[in-house]
Amino acid sequence: MGLCNSAIIGTGSYLPEKVLTNFDLEKIVDTSDEWIRRRTGMVERRIADKDIASSDLGIQASLRAIEMSGIDPMDIELIIVPTVTPDMFFPSTACFLQKGIKAAKAAAFDISAGCSGFPYGLVIADQFIKAGTYKTVLVVAAETLTKITDWTDRSTCVLFGDGAGAAILQATNEEKGIISYYLGADGNHSDYELLGIPGGGSRNPSTHETVDKGMHYIKMRGKELFKLGVKAMAEAGMRALKAGNLSLDDIDLCIPHQANKRMIDAIGELMGVPEEKMFVNVEKYGNTSSATMAVALDEAIREGKVGPGSMVLIIAFGSGLTWAGVVIKL
Ligand code: ACO
Repeated sequence: MGLCNSAIIGTGSYLPEKVLTNFDLEKIVDTSDEWIRRRTGMVERRIADKDIASSDLGIQASLRAIEMSGIDPMDIELIIVPTVTPDMFFPSTACFLQKGIKAAKAAAFDISAGCSGFPYGLVIADQFIKAGTYKTVLVVAAETLTKITDWTDRSTCVLFGDGAGAAILQATNEEKGIISYYLGADGNHSDYELLGIPGGGSRNPSTHETVDKGMHYIKMRGKELFKLGVKAMAEAGMRALKAGNLSLDDIDLCIPHQANKRMIDAIGELMGVPEEKMFVNVEKYGNTSSATMAVALDEAIREGKVGPGSMVLIIAFGSGLTWAGVVIKL
């Protein structure tokens, strides 16, 4: 037992049908399609209905991953849900999801690692598999950012969308799966005004006053984050490669967190990744936090951009601050 590899045997994603375009946003706040495209690369994003929670999106993504993998949901031994928009404080979103996909034998928990949650989750799954504890683990990044968006704040509301992506990892003796990784965090940047939600937790429990002040909405200082994010993601990527004695030449596709097209371009330039090797879908979905990379991985596989044997580098950055890089051989 132990020290086998964690192969990705199935992926899935789900985006709500409802589309919110830049032109729709022009009617809500003082912004323009031209500004949003030029400063972010975003064109539209998806919005979950009022009665839909993150687990509902995660369930659909998981069912698609289960279908691709051909496993029975009862084979899943652990469910990890990275999310910054859980259905509620508790029970965990992972438990709602376990019920929804009928994976009754699985242990289940959420993780809080901001937008870096998906690669953090993949690494946790890999540890359980390498330790020999579990053979089959489901990681589902599920987010409904539009539920925590202040629709009067043009500096944030144009950026976010809803979506979910899932990956199933399974023990294998083949030379593939999670090859190497790097996880980073710096609590010196945990200032919630930089990126966070100040209200509703034990620091500022919900009261009429916290709600009146809009403390239950995302706060963000975008300009500062932009620079920190570019540096952190480039570093995470290079460190993950180094941990596997790899170089960028070994990588077929780089999947960065989709927060802003200009950020992705800057990361590519800093790391030296050619444009054709950088996956971008931010124009379709905006920033869906931890779900961006999970959705992108699924799209890249289903569109045939990568396949068996391909080397993929996922790089992420999010609140905390946290950052992460993971190298996967499909
Ligand atoms: N429409 C029109 N004008 C706007 C808008 C808008 N939606 N938002 C801001 N502006 C204005 C500002 O008021 C400012 O005007 P001023 O010059 O008169 O003061 C001007 O545009 C420039 O504002 P900046 O904030 O400097 O714009 P910037 O080019 O930095 O773009 C953005 C802002 C898009 C938020 C960018 O900084 C960014 O993407 N930052 C990174 C965000 C990030 O890393 N997120 C990742 C973690 S968050 C997560 O994933 C959940």
